[in-house]
Amino acid sequence: MKRFLFPLAAVAALALGWSQLAQNPTDTNANDYTNWGEYLGGPDRSHYSALAQLTPRNVTQLKVAWTYHTGSSGQIQTNPIIIDGVLYGVTPTVQAFALDAATGREIWKYGDSLKAWHSTSRGVAYWQSKDGSDKRILYTVGPKLLALDATTGQPIMSFGNNGTADLHDGLGEQAKDKFVISNTPGTIFDDLIVMPVRLSEGADAAPGYVRAFNVRTGKLAWTFRTIPKPGDYGYTTWPKDAYKNETVGAANNWAGMAIDRPRGILYVPTGSAAYDFYGGNRVGQNLFANCLLALDARTGKRLWHFQAVHHDIWDRDFPAPPNLLTVRHDGRKIDAVAQVTKSGHVFVFDRVTGKPLFPIVETPVPRSDIPGEVSWPTQPIPQKPAAFARQQMTEADINPYSTDRDSLLAVFRGIGTRQYEPISKRGSLLFPGCDGGAEWGGAATDPDGIMYVNANDIPWIFTMVDAPRPDELAGLSPGRRVYTQSCQSCHGPDRKGNARSGYPSLVDISQRRDRPYVSNIVQHGKGMMPGFTALSTADRQALLAFLFDDEKQEVASASPYPPKAKEPYLPYKVTGYHKFQDSQGLPAVAPPWGTLNAIDLNTGEYRWKIPLGSEPLLAGKGPESTGSIQTGTENYGGPVVTASGLLFIAATKDAKFRAFDKKTGKLLWETQLPAAGFATPATYQVGGKQFVVIACGGAKLGTKSGNQYVAFALP
Ligand code: HEC
Repeated sequence: MKRFLFPLAAVAALALGWSQLAQNPTDTNANDYTNWGEYLGGPDRSHYSALAQLTPRNVTQLKVAWTYHTGSSGQIQTNPIIIDGVLYGVTPTVQAFALDAATGREIWKYGDSLKAWHSTSRGVAYWQSKDGSDKRILYTVGPKLLALDATTGQPIMSFGNNGTADLHDGLGEQAKDKFVISNTPGTIFDDLIVMPVRLSEGADAAPGYVRAFNVRTGKLAWTFRTIPKPGDYGYTTWPKDAYKNETVGAANNWAGMAIDRPRGILYVPTGSAAYDFYGGNRVGQNLFANCLLALDARTGKRLWHFQAVHHDIWDRDFPAPPNLLTVRHDGRKIDAVAQVTKSGHVFVFDRVTGKPLFPIVETPVPRSDIPGEVSWPTQPIPQKPAAFARQQMTEADINPYSTDRDSLLAVFRGIGTRQYEPISKRGSLLFPGCDGGAEWGGAATDPDGIMYVNANDIPWIFTMVDAPRPDELAGLSPGRRVYTQSCQSCHGPDRKGNARSGYPSLVDISQRRDRPYVSNIVQHGKGMMPGFTALSTADRQALLAFLFDDEKQEVASASPYPPKAKEPYLPYKVTGYHKFQDSQGLPAVAPPWGTLNAIDLNTGEYRWKIPLGSEPLLAGKGPESTGSIQTGTENYGGPVVTASGLLFIAATKDAKFRAFDKKTGKLLWETQLPAAGFATPATYQVGGKQFVVIACGGAKLGTKSGNQYVAFALP
């Protein structure tokens, strides 16, 4: 009996040790794809799970297993993580929480929803010490990086300054009051966390240096300068003073990163330099904006880089972390890194050398006619795979289902519509639009080397105008001046906004909201609106008085203008962010408006491509034989693929959650969510049961807002 028991205990201990290893995301090589311990499934951000309880055969039997009400409603872009049976997520008001992943029962919740920063969070990162005695949740609230005890949800006071590190740290004196937050979880390597940051996209943007912080102490560990200083590689691709961050900033990673832990290589996709749409003050190629950077994760030293947009003047940020995967090329297995773009391309490289696996051709593009702008003459376009979003729109592509075809056509004829059309004063088409092609949801990849990526096919129009000169600003009332400088580009000169493109009207704000509410939003931002942290109290008060039509107070609270300190000034700005659409809000281009694509990255060929989602406005209006048009809809949030052959995705405006056969793209199952799931699902197993969970916050694309995480499982 004893002889029999002993080996059993040994087996149990071994099994325990193994599962702990497998569940510790900070251990190199630990990911066996059976847990979801890190953002987007693991360090390679593959959105892939080896779990196989849910299959194409039984997926139709999925039922709601539990629902968690977050207590506040609004956009939730969170991809939750699951560690040892506990699910960690974030609420719409950026409170972190821990749930029993089997039941949805709340274990703890951190933060005050009333005091929270009204920004979206894509999730949290988890770290534990080698002996497992110290377990931390790292996440951001505004400019603060917090370390919470994973077991209790209480701040770890020895981290940073009483539990928080400051994301301004290491950005320089010039950036100390600038808008710096993060919406995306950091990437863990040993005792480091490397942080994405979101910045202003104007001339007042902080520099987007990539920085690693010590997970134990909160101290800055290393900095990689994406706008290099004199003597550093890339310095000569900018004007000589650009690094001083007076009118040039950003080139930041906001979308998150991937890490090859065994090799110690960190992959960092960056965004455009700011100001986004005019680069007359940043003439040059602008390294390391719009780059995929391979950095030594220990030191932050550059190993190789690839720039996808030279001297970007379209806001073509890399929108998602890259996928690390293995492909076969020329009969050889190659560890690769694949990066999707807003323009709808996939770039695939050898992960170690940075050598492209398919040819990339520098292609001549139209030049800008804006004085002072020196647009780059060529842009790199991969020859394979073919783009997963349409690259050009012609008159023949005007939406045949729109009742405003004539006016859409008239607008189309009046603007510039070439591929890589620089933004001009007569208006320029950006297609695919500002939100991709690919967006922050990113792509999934499986061990067969197949990439699954959802995309938007929505045209946008940008128009350049002269920015008000300092002497013109001096002639405005104080509140209107602040409005003109800081708010007009999105909320419009007449304060009417552009509701259909997601920019609310502020005309009647005094009837809908009170001043503290608006003041809070101006300071801290909301959703995709940045905060204006550098506005003086006097300027903010004048602005509020202006928005609340309180002229007396507006004048009384004015700060002197022009100010003593030099304000960043650029001669041009765009009139706003406008989707090109008809009076009903339908895109001006023919459907499909959203697609789901399966691309074989071994060969560069497509396995399948389907419309994703259906536009409620056109339901039942299709050709008689089918009764419905395969419209697809604009979509936000990525897919998850499983070893058993499933692809799960929500993301669509129609608020459905769907499962497809990953081999064929055939729809296997769909269900209506309580609100649209603009987030990436996660799948995990607890107590022998596989779950798939999705955050449903809605509140984008005119959809109703929600407050739930919904988990599905077999009954
Ligand atoms: C880059 C574009 C952008 C700029 C610049 C901008 N906003 Fe916004 N604003 C938005 C978006 C987008 C929303 C909707 C956010 C949401 O609800 O998710 C918004 C929402 C708001 C709201 C909330 C409206 C409501 O009904 O709740 C207020 C108030 C507001 N903005 C005021 C301002 C003011 C004042 C400024 C200038 C200091 C400003 N915004 C600058 C994009 C912008």
